[in-house]
Amino acid sequence: MSESANVRLPVSADAHERERSYADVALRIGGLLDGETDWIAALSSVVAELKAAFAYFDWVGFYRLAEPGCLVVGPYQGGHGCLRIPLGRGVCGAAARTRQTQLVPDVTACVDHIACSSSTRSEIVVPLVTPNGRLLGVLDVDSDTADAFDRADQEGLEAIAADLARRFQDQHPL
Ligand code: SME
Repeated sequence: MSESANVRLPVSADAHERERSYADVALRIGGLLDGETDWIAALSSVVAELKAAFAYFDWVGFYRLAEPGCLVVGPYQGGHGCLRIPLGRGVCGAAARTRQTQLVPDVTACVDHIACSSSTRSEIVVPLVTPNGRLLGVLDVDSDTADAFDRADQEGLEAIAADLARRFQDQHPL
Protein backbone atom coordinates (compact mmCIF):
# COMPACT_ATOMS: atom_id res chain seq x y z
CA MET A 1 0.00 0.00 0.00
CA SER A 2 1.38 3.44 -0.92
CA GLU A 3 1.97 5.96 1.85
CA SER A 4 0.17 9.27 2.34
CA ALA A 5 1.80 12.41 0.93
CA ASN A 6 4.98 13.21 2.86
CA VAL A 7 5.21 16.81 1.65
CA ARG A 8 2.18 18.95 2.40
CA LEU A 9 1.31 21.44 -0.32
CA PRO A 10 1.62 25.05 0.93
CA VAL A 11 -1.13 27.64 0.44
CA SER A 12 1.25 29.56 -1.87
CA ALA A 13 0.97 26.75 -4.47
CA ASP A 14 -0.46 27.79 -7.82
CA ALA A 15 -3.41 26.16 -9.59
CA HIS A 16 -1.18 23.83 -11.58
CA GLU A 17 0.63 22.54 -8.47
CA ARG A 18 -2.72 22.09 -6.73
CA GLU A 19 -4.09 20.10 -9.68
CA ARG A 20 -1.06 17.80 -9.51
CA SER A 21 -1.59 17.21 -5.80
CA TYR A 22 -5.28 16.42 -6.32
CA ALA A 23 -4.33 13.96 -9.07
CA ASP A 24 -1.90 12.24 -6.64
CA VAL A 25 -4.47 12.20 -3.84
CA ALA A 26 -7.15 10.81 -6.16
CA LEU A 27 -4.81 7.97 -7.16
CA ARG A 28 -4.05 7.13 -3.52
CA ILE A 29 -7.75 7.29 -2.58
CA GLY A 30 -8.61 5.02 -5.53
CA GLY A 31 -6.03 2.48 -4.33
CA LEU A 32 -7.28 2.61 -0.75
CA LEU A 33 -10.99 2.43 -1.55
CA ASP A 34 -11.08 -0.19 -4.29
CA GLY A 35 -13.09 -3.10 -2.92
CA GLU A 36 -13.95 -1.27 0.30
CA THR A 37 -17.64 -1.47 1.17
CA ASP A 38 -17.59 0.23 4.56
CA TRP A 39 -18.57 3.88 4.26
CA ILE A 40 -16.96 5.02 7.52
CA ALA A 41 -13.68 3.31 6.58
CA ALA A 42 -13.79 5.13 3.25
CA LEU A 43 -14.61 8.58 4.67
CA SER A 44 -11.90 8.23 7.34
CA SER A 45 -9.30 7.34 4.72
CA VAL A 46 -10.26 10.29 2.49
CA VAL A 47 -9.94 12.68 5.45
CA ALA A 48 -6.50 11.29 6.32
CA GLU A 49 -5.26 11.61 2.73
CA LEU A 50 -6.51 15.18 2.33
CA LYS A 51 -5.13 16.36 5.68
CA ALA A 52 -1.72 14.82 4.84
CA ALA A 53 -1.59 16.37 1.36
CA PHE A 54 -2.51 20.03 1.94
CA ALA A 55 -0.85 22.21 4.59
CA TYR A 56 -3.64 24.77 4.42
CA PHE A 57 -6.36 22.25 5.37
CA ASP A 58 -6.71 22.94 9.09
CA TRP A 59 -10.00 21.06 9.50
CA VAL A 60 -11.19 18.37 7.11
CA GLY A 61 -14.28 16.27 7.65
CA PHE A 62 -17.65 14.98 6.61
CA TYR A 63 -21.16 15.78 7.77
CA ARG A 64 -23.64 13.00 6.92
CA LEU A 65 -27.36 13.41 6.30
CA ALA A 66 -27.88 10.82 9.01
CA GLU A 67 -31.31 12.14 10.07
CA PRO A 68 -33.99 13.98 8.10
CA GLY A 69 -33.15 17.68 8.07
CA CYS A 70 -29.94 17.34 10.04
CA LEU A 71 -26.27 16.87 9.20
CA VAL A 72 -24.33 14.85 11.78
CA VAL A 73 -20.55 15.00 11.96
CA GLY A 74 -18.65 12.03 10.54
CA PRO A 75 -14.93 11.25 10.31
CA TYR A 76 -12.78 14.38 10.62
CA GLN A 77 -9.32 15.69 11.52
CA GLY A 78 -8.75 18.98 13.33
CA GLY A 79 -10.23 20.52 16.45
CA HIS A 80 -13.66 19.30 17.46
CA GLY A 81 -16.41 20.38 15.08
CA CYS A 82 -20.11 21.08 15.68
CA LEU A 83 -21.74 17.69 16.18
CA ARG A 84 -24.98 18.53 14.38
CA ILE A 85 -25.94 21.16 11.81
CA PRO A 86 -29.61 21.62 10.85
CA LEU A 87 -30.01 21.91 7.06
CA GLY A 88 -31.25 25.48 7.51
CA ARG A 89 -27.97 26.62 9.07
CA GLY A 90 -24.36 27.29 8.21
CA VAL A 91 -22.26 26.97 5.08
CA CYS A 92 -22.67 23.18 5.37
CA GLY A 93 -26.44 23.52 5.45
CA ALA A 94 -26.32 25.79 2.38
CA ALA A 95 -24.23 23.23 0.43
CA ALA A 96 -26.68 20.48 1.43
CA ARG A 97 -29.81 22.52 0.54
CA THR A 98 -28.54 23.84 -2.78
CA ARG A 99 -26.39 20.79 -3.65
CA GLN A 100 -23.83 23.31 -4.86
CA THR A 101 -20.29 23.83 -3.62
CA GLN A 102 -19.99 26.77 -1.23
CA LEU A 103 -16.62 28.57 -1.41
CA VAL A 104 -16.25 31.20 1.31
CA PRO A 105 -12.99 33.21 0.94
CA ASP A 106 -13.63 35.25 4.11
CA VAL A 107 -15.78 33.62 6.78
CA THR A 108 -15.97 36.87 8.78
CA ALA A 109 -17.99 38.37 5.90
CA CYS A 110 -20.38 35.39 5.72
CA VAL A 111 -23.45 35.74 7.95
CA ASP A 112 -24.35 32.04 7.55
CA HIS A 113 -20.98 30.76 8.72
CA ILE A 114 -21.01 28.76 11.96
CA ALA A 115 -17.68 29.28 13.72
CA CYS A 116 -16.53 25.96 15.17
CA SER A 117 -13.03 27.40 15.57
CA SER A 118 -12.13 31.07 16.03
CA SER A 119 -8.99 30.58 13.91
CA THR A 120 -10.89 29.66 10.70
CA ARG A 121 -10.59 32.28 7.94
CA SER A 122 -11.89 30.52 4.82
CA GLU A 123 -13.95 27.46 4.02
CA ILE A 124 -15.13 25.23 1.18
CA VAL A 125 -18.03 22.78 1.42
CA VAL A 126 -18.83 20.25 -1.31
CA PRO A 127 -22.04 18.17 -1.38
CA LEU A 128 -21.97 14.38 -1.92
CA VAL A 129 -24.78 13.67 -4.39
CA THR A 130 -25.28 10.15 -5.81
CA PRO A 131 -25.72 9.61 -9.56
CA ASN A 132 -29.48 9.25 -8.96
CA GLY A 133 -29.64 12.55 -7.10
CA ARG A 134 -29.61 11.50 -3.42
CA LEU A 135 -27.69 13.67 -0.96
CA LEU A 136 -25.42 11.62 1.33
CA GLY A 137 -23.76 14.52 3.13
CA VAL A 138 -21.06 17.15 2.62
CA LEU A 139 -17.27 17.38 2.67
CA ASP A 140 -16.15 20.43 4.67
CA VAL A 141 -12.63 21.92 4.60
CA ASP A 142 -11.64 24.90 6.77
CA SER A 143 -8.42 26.90 6.58
CA ASP A 144 -6.80 29.30 9.04
CA THR A 145 -5.60 31.26 5.97
CA ALA A 146 -7.96 33.74 4.31
CA ASP A 147 -8.84 33.00 0.67
CA ALA A 148 -7.00 29.67 0.83
CA PHE A 149 -9.10 27.80 -1.77
CA ASP A 150 -9.25 28.30 -5.53
CA ARG A 151 -10.83 26.71 -8.59
CA ALA A 152 -8.33 23.82 -8.47
CA ASP A 153 -9.40 23.00 -4.90
CA GLN A 154 -13.05 23.20 -5.87
CA GLU A 155 -12.61 20.90 -8.87
CA GLY A 156 -10.35 18.47 -6.98
CA LEU A 157 -12.68 18.20 -3.99
CA GLU A 158 -15.77 17.92 -6.22
CA ALA A 159 -14.14 15.00 -8.07
CA ILE A 160 -13.39 13.23 -4.76
CA ALA A 161 -16.95 13.84 -3.50
CA ALA A 162 -18.46 12.57 -6.78
CA ASP A 163 -16.29 9.45 -6.65
CA LEU A 164 -17.38 8.71 -3.06
CA ALA A 165 -21.05 9.34 -3.84
CA ARG A 166 -20.82 6.96 -6.81
CA ARG A 167 -19.05 4.23 -4.81
CA PHE A 168 -21.58 4.50 -1.95
CA GLN A 169 -24.71 5.35 -3.93
CA ASP A 170 -26.72 2.64 -2.11
CA GLN A 171 -25.46 3.68 1.30
CA HIS A 172 -27.75 5.08 3.99
CA PRO A 173 -25.50 7.86 5.34
CA LEU A 174 -25.47 6.55 8.94
N1 SME B 1 -18.31 26.28 9.43
C1 SME B 1 -19.32 25.27 9.19
C2 SME B 1 -19.58 24.45 10.42
C3 SME B 1 -18.75 23.24 10.54
S1 SME B 1 -17.23 23.50 11.18
O1 SME B 1 -16.56 24.54 10.46
C4 SME B 1 -16.30 22.21 11.29
C5 SME B 1 -20.60 25.91 8.69
O2 SME B 1 -20.74 27.13 8.69
O3 SME B 1 -21.51 25.16 8.30
